[in-house]
Amino acid sequence: MIKIDSVRFLLSVSRSLDFTYTGLLDHHKRVAYLSQALGRALGLSEPELWQLFKTAIIHDAGATTWKEKNMLLEFEVNDGPRWAHCRKGYEFAHNIPTLDMSADEILVHHDRWMGGNPSGFVKDRIPLAGRIIHLVDRIDVLIQNNVPILQQRDRIMHEVKTKAGTEFDPNLVELVHNIMQRDSLWLDLVSPWLGERLMDALPANIGLGEVSLVDLARLFARVVDAKSPFTYRHSKGVASSAVILGQELGFNNEQCELLEAAALLHDLGKVTIPEAILDKNGPLTANEFNFIKQHTYYTYWLLKPVTKDLPLAQWAAFHHERLDGNGYPFQKVEAELSLGARIVAAADVFTALREDRPYRLGMQWPAIEKIFQEKVADRALDKEVVETLLASREKLDIMWEQLSKN
Ligand SMILES: [Fe+2]
Ligand SMILES: [Fe+2]
Ligand SMILES: [Fe+2]
Repeated sequence: MIKIDSVRFLLSVSRSLDFTYTGLLDHHKRVAYLSQALGRALGLSEPELWQLFKTAIIHDAGATTWKEKNMLLEFEVNDGPRWAHCRKGYEFAHNIPTLDMSADEILVHHDRWMGGNPSGFVKDRIPLAGRIIHLVDRIDVLIQNNVPILQQRDRIMHEVKTKAGTEFDPNLVELVHNIMQRDSLWLDLVSPWLGERLMDALPANIGLGEVSLVDLARLFARVVDAKSPFTYRHSKGVASSAVILGQELGFNNEQCELLEAAALLHDLGKVTIPEAILDKNGPLTANEFNFIKQHTYYTYWLLKPVTKDLPLAQWAAFHHERLDGNGYPFQKVEAELSLGARIVAAADVFTALREDRPYRLGMQWPAIEKIFQEKVADRALDKEVVETLLASREKLDIMWEQLSKN
């Protein structure tokens, strides 16, 4: 099994959760950083601090559209979006072995101290991680970008205190008030070194290298697929198809696992594109297509820091490159496209043709074959990979049937 430095993975890939109309925010990093500070003040053990980090750094994974994310930036969030993103985040993380506990904590990360929560929990029955994240999350949304941070302390702490005992755990409010006396903690939040500060704040030696890459990839594939109703299983389909192709082309188990992870994450950069463009029913304008072109650029740079030794970013992000050099956005040429990248590209085309789209039903083999042959003749896709794909239609059919049942 490919194990991965999970801190490195989560710090970089969780940035994908922070893109919205207002640009790239640091919401997940800030909430993770403040919750470590509060957790330490509470005297949590190192394993507890590590668990708190894992949850905090992905806590809003359930807010998949830009609209949802913006609604959460209000201090008082309506109950609709409030519970919907908790529930969805829970479903994304649930059943992923290394994230099961985080799923339960994500579910309650906006629970009110006084009760009235869908979880049924009240006061100190609410899991502590949920109470911590709820409080520091609301502190973060009160920060204004255009006002010096230290001038905001009194206003923010005053607002938070008015909700001690109703919205927030009053003991935690008192404790956070004490630790937020330190100026540097506020300065850290808006500092260019926030990522480094967060690394320093994490418990030493816990979590490093202990998490399965495919597990973590699965979570983010669910987030990407949920962004549009038409692609709710697209990443899964590309991953299963890519693994079949890898096996047929002689990849070993570890390489197949890397293919699976790369395919699960291939469209990660789509989180930087507004839904209005992704879901548009009809041809895209040139400007809209420019937006589409950026998605694999972001896939690449979100994944690049994850591992130095494995070609994860390349395999994932080169799926719109072409052998003739006319793909996007890196304009790679044949010699620069490894077999792994060619497999993910072909698996992506196959899945896109096979699934239903708003303007057409999924295609059958004769039509799929014709399109693939054109793409080989045009030097978009690799001949050997396409021949393997066409020769594997039975396996792909069985896979597709299983996928459609889930
Ligand atoms: Fe939230
Ligand atoms: Fe949040
Ligand atoms: Fe794509």
